[in-house]
Amino acid sequence: MPLVTTKKMFEDAYKGKYAVGAFNVNNMEIIQGIVQAGQKLNAPLILQVSKGARAYANHTYLVKLVEAAVIETGLPIALHLDHGPDFETCKSCIDGGFTSVMIDGSHLPYEENVALTKKVVEYAHDKGVVVEGELGQLAGIEDDVNVSAEDASYTKPEQVYDFATRTGVDSLAIAIGTSHGAYKFKPGQKPQLRFDILEEVEKKLPDFPIVLHGASSVIPECVKQINQYGGKLDDAIGIPEDMLRKAATMAVCKINIDSDLRLAMTAAIRKYLAENPSHFDPRQYLKPARDAIQAMVEHKIVDVLGCDGKA
Ligand code: G3H
Ligand code: 13P
Ligand code: ZN
Repeated sequence: MPLVTTKKMFEDAYKGKYAVGAFNVNNMEIIQGIVQAGQKLNAPLILQVSKGARAYANHTYLVKLVEAAVIETGLPIALHLDHGPDFETCKSCIDGGFTSVMIDGSHLPYEENVALTKKVVEYAHDKGVVVEGELGQLAGIEDDVNVSAEDASYTKPEQVYDFATRTGVDSLAIAIGTSHGAYKFKPGQKPQLRFDILEEVEKKLPDFPIVLHGASSVIPECVKQINQYGGKLDDAIGIPEDMLRKAATMAVCKINIDSDLRLAMTAAIRKYLAENPSHFDPRQYLKPARDAIQAMVEHKIVDVLGCDGKA
């Protein structure tokens, strides 16, 4: 099976009340860890590449690694541009083998977001590629943009029908209280998501796939292990997994996870090097790092997304 779009994945996820995991990839070990988990659990996968990932690893290397994952596993895998910053980046990914792109106009005035998203949709659909748009702004850091909690804004449900119909987007990312990175809530703040907004969005846009960004849970064991072996991550806190599980049974069909993979990988490498100070072959510490990614993704597939057996 070649790379697929997210169209059927989302139709099945919506009906089946589960979500598909969209995992950020930057190198071979991350890709292998994710797809080994998907293969073991027969789960569909979205592998997503940010502008930063393309700058780090190179577009062609990432496309070829993901194509290798498809050949090796036979799983339905979509290759997605995460947070496409402009039309040119989206075009480059559409022309260069991606099956899905996000155009992130969430920081723009509404009409400019509509115009830019529509332009990307027209180009993408012509080539059989699907598009994710975004309304509302998450807090946190993505690429070189840092949105403070004060500047973040929830999605306005009254805008979603107009945005989806005028742009023609295939899925919509919304802001209901998730945020990027490992510091999602202030110390002492009670984590919460605005399920009332999600319900309103669902009413205004029935049967339409919704996306949650910033959905890492910042697993305490990973943070503890990083701190135990010389790291310093104070007050790191994420979205409780039971809230994400609930969102996955609603209109949310795609859940984005990056930070939890970074934390799992870093925790494994720190532990390995602390326990084996004389080792210097990268394969020795990248193997447990890859295993840690696999274990994290297996956990997400079964306990958060509910997409095991759905490939
Ligand atoms: O939402 C952003 C993702 O976590 C990607 O992060 O831009 O550092 O690759 P990055
Ligand atoms: P996290 O930082 O919560 O993993 O979010 C990742 C994300 O939204 C990628 O687009
Ligand atoms: Zn994101």
